[in-house]
Amino acid sequence: MNVHPVMEEQAHGLPEARAEQLGAPWPTGAVRLADGDILFGGVRLSELADGYGTPVYALDEAEVRRRAAAYRSALPEGSVHYAAKAFLCATLARWLDEEGLGLDVCSENELGLALAARFPAERIVLHGNAKSEAELSLAVRRGVGRIVLDSFSEIAHLAALADPQRPQGVYVRVIPGIEAGHHSAVRTGVDDQQFGFPLSDGSALEAAARVLAQPHLRLDGLHCHLGSQIAEIGPYLLAVDRLVELLAALRDRYGCTLPELDLGGGHAIAYRPGEPAFAPAQFAACVLPRLRQRCAEHHLPMPKLAIEPGRAIVGPAGVAVYRVLALKHTPGGQRILAVDGGMSDNPRPALYGAGYSAYLVGRRSGAPTVPTRVVGRHCEAGDVLVPEADLPGDVRPGDLIAVPAAGAYQLSMASGYNLVGRPPLIGVHDGEDRVLLRRECLADLLGREPGAPLAAV
Ligand code: LLP
Repeated sequence: MNVHPVMEEQAHGLPEARAEQLGAPWPTGAVRLADGDILFGGVRLSELADGYGTPVYALDEAEVRRRAAAYRSALPEGSVHYAAKAFLCATLARWLDEEGLGLDVCSENELGLALAARFPAERIVLHGNAKSEAELSLAVRRGVGRIVLDSFSEIAHLAALADPQRPQGVYVRVIPGIEAGHHSAVRTGVDDQQFGFPLSDGSALEAAARVLAQPHLRLDGLHCHLGSQIAEIGPYLLAVDRLVELLAALRDRYGCTLPELDLGGGHAIAYRPGEPAFAPAQFAACVLPRLRQRCAEHHLPMPKLAIEPGRAIVGPAGVAVYRVLALKHTPGGQRILAVDGGMSDNPRPALYGAGYSAYLVGRRSGAPTVPTRVVGRHCEAGDVLVPEADLPGDVRPGDLIAVPAAGAYQLSMASGYNLVGRPPLIGVHDGEDRVLLRRECLADLLGREPGAPLAAV
């Protein structure tokens, strides 16, 4: 663990006097120093790049905890399950446990990692439209709190695996028929896709009825997840209306009153200055009264509300730092900077056309900004990280570029493309840094090839 002298300087008020608070999409407390470097969790990004090499990712522990705590205090009586698909490592699991959150996992290894990090099983929710036998039985065996049922065959399958001595808590995943989310690839609230049981054709009601008929399954509630990067509250209010109607139908038909309602995740963050972000307190201030009102109209008790934010907890707490390797100009006059990472550590621009911002770090430039295309190092013309970054016109090979809001769906979706190797993740806190995940190296790749005759490299 390294302690950086800049924090001491800051305590004496030296660079701080000349430092500038950055604001969204940067986390609280990120500052631009007078020499052009950026302090992130109290650590200079240029020191992270020099110390750990590039590309390097950093995660600001205080920002993760602050965001987790904001959700807990917005819903003191509800449950907040962090969606591990946004990003998961053992240290993060421990921070979230300490902050009192639950965890939403959707694979055997996400579940295994959470259990290995000693995350309490009863606060874990298992998702997936195609869960394997191994996943379901591990979840049952380890006492995972809720399993979210996603197909009729799965209901029968889980009922057969469940422990007769200990009924398994489950939710039924409902498709409420609501279109929301930043890209069609993530809109799971609509009928024509593979997650959940549609409300529209009666499947959701039928699924709940089948669960109620299984003595080893305990139907604790309904679940829906509309989509991702949703900035408005409206779709969630509509989801409340539709799911409460289903709760009422279940009570009327089968005499059961379900105690929980899970509205999934999807809360938006700012990737660029000025973009809207979701506020947990505002969400609670709108959704809870609506839920109370709809339940009262149907003479239902208010269920406990559960949510599953992923991006909104880790996204703004992360940053990616790259080194510029090449500068080019197209015949059409487009300025291109190529960096040493790209679509293998951040596939989001290529997959969804996702927008980001880029910042020069490590030195101050007085040059006017020029629209610059920041591209990656992979063998595709589509490997564009930021199509139109506002960067000083003198940025050149050797400079460092930081891309903020990099904490969600980047390292978790990183690939092995071009065998570049996945970057390390460094935890930063109060001016100290430590490795949370080390860089993937050639030995890791060769380690997967049993028996291959290998020469020294
Ligand atoms: N709950 C369920 C059941 C989900 O499927 C998801 C995300 C979440 C919660 C968390 O959503 P969040 O709060 O993080 O938006 N790779 C895409 C996002 C895919 C999200 C999939 N499900 C992206 O990079 O935009």
